[in-house]
Amino acid sequence: MSKNISKLSGRIGLKNNLFQKISERSLKSKNGEGMKEIAEEYNLGVSTIHGAESFYEFLRPEHRAKKAFICNGSACMCAGTQEKLKDKLETKLGKGKVGAMFCLGYCYENRAFHYDGENYAGEDINKIDQIIKGEEIKQNKLFSKSFASTSFLMDDKLDNLNQFKSLLEKYLKIDGKEIIKNLLESNLCGRGGAAFPTGMKWDFCGQQKAKKKYVVCNADEGDSGAFSDRYLLEDQPLKVLFGMIICGYVIGGDEGVLYIRGEYPKSIESVNGCINELKKQKLLGENILGTKFNFNINICIGQGAYICGEETALIASIEGRRAEVDVRPPFPTVEGLYKKPTVVNNVETLAAATGILINGSKKFSAIGNKKSAGTKLVCLDSFFKNPGVYEIDMGTPMKKIFHEIGGGFKESVKALQIGGPLGGVVPVELAEKLNLDFQEFTKAGFMLGHGSIVSIPKDFNMVEYIHHLFEFTAEESCGKCFPGRLGSYRGKEMFDQALSKKNKIPIKLLNELLTTMKKGCLCALCGAIPVPISNILKYFGDEMKNDIST
Ligand SMILES: Cc1cc2nc3c(=O)[nH]c(=O)nc-3n(C[C@H](O)[C@H](O)[C@H](O)COP(=O)(O)O)c2cc1C
Repeated sequence: MSKNISKLSGRIGLKNNLFQKISERSLKSKNGEGMKEIAEEYNLGVSTIHGAESFYEFLRPEHRAKKAFICNGSACMCAGTQEKLKDKLETKLGKGKVGAMFCLGYCYENRAFHYDGENYAGEDINKIDQIIKGEEIKQNKLFSKSFASTSFLMDDKLDNLNQFKSLLEKYLKIDGKEIIKNLLESNLCGRGGAAFPTGMKWDFCGQQKAKKKYVVCNADEGDSGAFSDRYLLEDQPLKVLFGMIICGYVIGGDEGVLYIRGEYPKSIESVNGCINELKKQKLLGENILGTKFNFNINICIGQGAYICGEETALIASIEGRRAEVDVRPPFPTVEGLYKKPTVVNNVETLAAATGILINGSKKFSAIGNKKSAGTKLVCLDSFFKNPGVYEIDMGTPMKKIFHEIGGGFKESVKALQIGGPLGGVVPVELAEKLNLDFQEFTKAGFMLGHGSIVSIPKDFNMVEYIHHLFEFTAEESCGKCFPGRLGSYRGKEMFDQALSKKNKIPIKLLNELLTTMKKGCLCALCGAIPVPISNILKYFGDEMKNDIST
C-alpha cells in the first residue's frame, strides 16, 4: 500500500510536494477543510491525507490553540528553568496558552521558548513585552570556536558565492569516481548517529541504474543537547548546500531535498536565502556553469515529529505519508524517496564532505583513526563554564573537552547524557576516561552519536530522568511497532507511579520490558532508549533504591 502512495505522490513529485501542501492547508484551516481536494488532486483516499496530517504535533488543533511554547528538552529540564518561564509566559498570554516543543537547540542558554514563529532563550524573557509587541530584540549569538588541528567545518573558506563558484567549477571538471575516491580516503563516517562511511554510501547510490535519484539532507536535528546542525545551517550554509550539490553530481541525481525542522526558524531563513542566491547566480538549476549537470534543491519544513530524523520516516514524511519507520533493506541508496535511489546524509556530514574537498582528504584521515576520523562538532550545554559549539579533532580526550575547552562545570554534575535521548548516560568520572571516538563509546556501553552533551546535576532525581526518557519515547514513537508503541507507555506508567509514590518500580518487569524493546523494536528510537535507562540503573541504581521493588 505504501508503495502505491509513494508512486502516486511521486507522480506529482517535489514541485507540488504533498507533505508541504498538507502542512500549509492544515495550518490555514480550522477544521481540516481542503483535505478532500488534496486527496482528489493526488488521487489518494481522504483517510490517507488525514492519516498524514494527524501525525504531526504542529498540525493538531490543541497545539495550534497555544500562543507560546516552552522547550521541554533534556538540557532545559536539567537546568530547572522551565517552570518559572512557563508561569511568566502564562501571566502575559493567559492560562493554558503555553504549550511545549521538544528541544529548540538553546541548551547553552536554557529558558528557551518559541513565540510567533521565533525562538528566544536566556535573558530574552525579560523583554517579553517588546517581543509581544512584535519589536525585534537583540539576542545572544551562539558561541562557536574551532580547536581542530585543521578546521573543516568552521573555517572561512566557503563564505561567499565567488568561493562557491570557483570550488564548483573545479569539481564539476573532475570525474565523480575521483570525488568518491577522495571521500573514501578521508574515512569520513556519517555524523547523523550511525557513523556509516559516507564515500561508500555515495558509491552504492551512484552504482544504481535509475534515471532519477535524490539527495536528502537530514536537517531534522531533534536530539536534546544538539545544536551543531543549527550552527552549520545558520553560519555555514554554503558548505551544507555545496555538499548536497556535489553529492547529486557524483551519484547522477538532479534533485535534492533539505528536510529541516520547523523548530529552527532562523535556519530555515538562512538556507532559503542562500538557495535563492545560488539560483540567481545560476549555481543551482539547469546546466550549471555551462555543463550538462542540472540540480535543484527543495526545502521541506518539518511539523514537530522527532521520528522524522530517522531516514525511512523522513522519506515517508517528504512523500506525504504518515511518518512511520520502514523496514530496511531495501536501504534508501537502492529504494529511497519515491522508491528511487537516494542518499540521505546529515547536515554535518555534507558540510564535512565539502571541507574535505576544500582541504584534502589526507588532512582529514590524518586526524583520529580509520573508523573515527577527522573533526567533529561537539555541543556543550549551560552547565559548562564555556558553553557553545566546538570543532574538535576525533580522538581528543573527553577530559580536555570538559575542562580545557568547556572550562569545567559551573556546579556539581554527576552524569552526562551524550548523543541525544538515545545516547548513553555516562558518569562524569567514566566519561573523563574516554576519548572522542565512536567505537570507544560503543565499547564502553554508551553512544557518541551526534556529539551533544547534556549535564545532569548532582541532585537531579534519576527516577525523574528515566521518566523523562520514557515520556519522550511514548510521545515521539511513530506507533508502527508493537514493542515501541506499548513498551514506551508501560515504561512511562511505571515511573509515573514511582514519582507519585503510588507504587515502586518493579525491577524484574522493567528489565524484561527493556530487553523486549531492545530486541523487538523496528528502529533505534524505542530500540535504543533501553541504553540510557540501563546505564542509569547500573551506575545510579543505589540512588533509586527506595523507589525500586525486587
Ligand atoms: C530515532 C532516530 C532519529 C534520528 N534523527 C536524526 C537526525 O535528527 N538527523 C540525522 O542526520 N540523522 C538522524 N538519525 C539517523 C538517520 O536515520 C540516518 O542514519 C542519517 O541521517 C544518515 O546520515 P549520515 O550517514 O550522514 O549520518 C536518526 C535515527 C533515529 C533512529
